[in-house]
Amino acid sequence: MEKREQLYEGKAKKVFSTDDADYVIVSYKDDATALDGLKKGIIAGKGAVNNRMSNFLMQLLEKNGVPTHFVKELSDRETVVRKVKIVPLEVIIRNISAGSFAKRFGVEEGIVFAEPTVEFSYKNDELHDPLMNAYHAIALGVATREEIEWIKAMAFKVNEVLKAYFLTLGVRLVDFKLEFGRLPDGTIVLADEISPDTCRFWDAETNEKLDKDRFRRDMGGVEDAYREMMRRVFGE
Ligand code: TMP
Repeated sequence: MEKREQLYEGKAKKVFSTDDADYVIVSYKDDATALDGLKKGIIAGKGAVNNRMSNFLMQLLEKNGVPTHFVKELSDRETVVRKVKIVPLEVIIRNISAGSFAKRFGVEEGIVFAEPTVEFSYKNDELHDPLMNAYHAIALGVATREEIEWIKAMAFKVNEVLKAYFLTLGVRLVDFKLEFGRLPDGTIVLADEISPDTCRFWDAETNEKLDKDRFRRDMGGVEDAYREMMRRVFGE
């Protein structure tokens, strides 16, 4: 597959067209942003960690009945994926209180929920990704009721598969964000990435943070955390 022109540059990835209109190539950068893009930095090696981890997890999910955009890893940083139109919803699943949940409800981090929660944010940088419920999404034509039900069911399934998998690596899956996309025929598949940028990972023994929160919160040891997650997943 031949790489052609750049179609889009996001905060953490670039997207290129190819000689086949149904496929694009994503290229993962080391750039990191937080706090709505206000905080900017570089996390050395992040692009390769996120690319390889995301591809591995997407394939694990495919085996467990979750359709994804993944096609083929080309290199440490580049992957062929099916071209989709992103559904402008950030789908967030939480198993343990942390981040904006802890802040919004005035509770400490680390409360293990009796069952996982789901919430949606409207993916819109200008509006700062406001919280959105299913009725709002339907009203604005973001998705149909059936699509939202399907997305929710898939997100909970992703949670069950990943929670069990990460536990075998001694990692608690605290929460994560998913994005879905539509293929030309309207079918919805899991898209974007699943990585330490988009998940909270805590060491199962010590609760040490092994994800982007180390960057968001200026905790130091950011590169080490990404490297440690790489080591747990790939043994390297
Ligand atoms: P939050 O607690 O800040 O709402 O984040 C919940 C999860 O979603 C956490 O694992 C980080 C991830 N996330 C993203 O991937 N992108 C974002 O822009 C935000 C705000 C959170």
